[in-house]
Amino acid sequence: MYSLTPLPYSEDALKPVIGIETMRTHHGKHHARYVAVMNELAGGADVPLEDLIAGARERGDSKLFANAAQAWNHAFYWHSMAPDTYTPSAELKGAITAAFGSLDTFAERFVAEGAGHFGSGWVWLTAADGRLEIVSTHDAEQPQGATPCVPLLVCDVWEHAYYLDYKNDRAQYLRAWVARLANWRFAAAQYEAAVRGAPAFRYAG
Ligand code: FE2
Repeated sequence: MYSLTPLPYSEDALKPVIGIETMRTHHGKHHARYVAVMNELAGGADVPLEDLIAGARERGDSKLFANAAQAWNHAFYWHSMAPDTYTPSAELKGAITAAFGSLDTFAERFVAEGAGHFGSGWVWLTAADGRLEIVSTHDAEQPQGATPCVPLLVCDVWEHAYYLDYKNDRAQYLRAWVARLANWRFAAAQYEAAVRGAPAFRYAG
């Protein structure tokens, strides 16, 4: 059995960018439901969630894959946000500058990628061979499932992530998210994993 990952902060910690009602519904209903359905489908599997996802992908078990990957993606999303404002480590900032020109340009491109993504999905900052990239994925998909890379940050662009606070203005949600919630301390740790093999995020629960 897999457990619902607890939030790494209180439900009201991300106000006013993300309100308490969104957090309660998103974590307590949506994320919890993905975990519950995954457990129904997983048949008592006792492997790390990362392996369960990889196995479901290989077998073409799309329903288990969708629920298991959504369980993982949401846990990663909670850690991609922080109530406190951090700045990227010097090394990560250097990689951002190399890839995008500046942190501001990164933010513009991240917002544009998420706002332009059609339908439900996720927008990610990833590192592959030390090079940073912004990618979006549909539904439950993960970039590391398509090509070897380490995700550094993710923003949920399913409507349930922002509709109560921003209605249909996804770009406004993304702008606020990048400016005020992006957890650069977490991203720097993931970058360490990408370039030096330090332990990367794993689902705990
Ligand atoms: Fe979500």
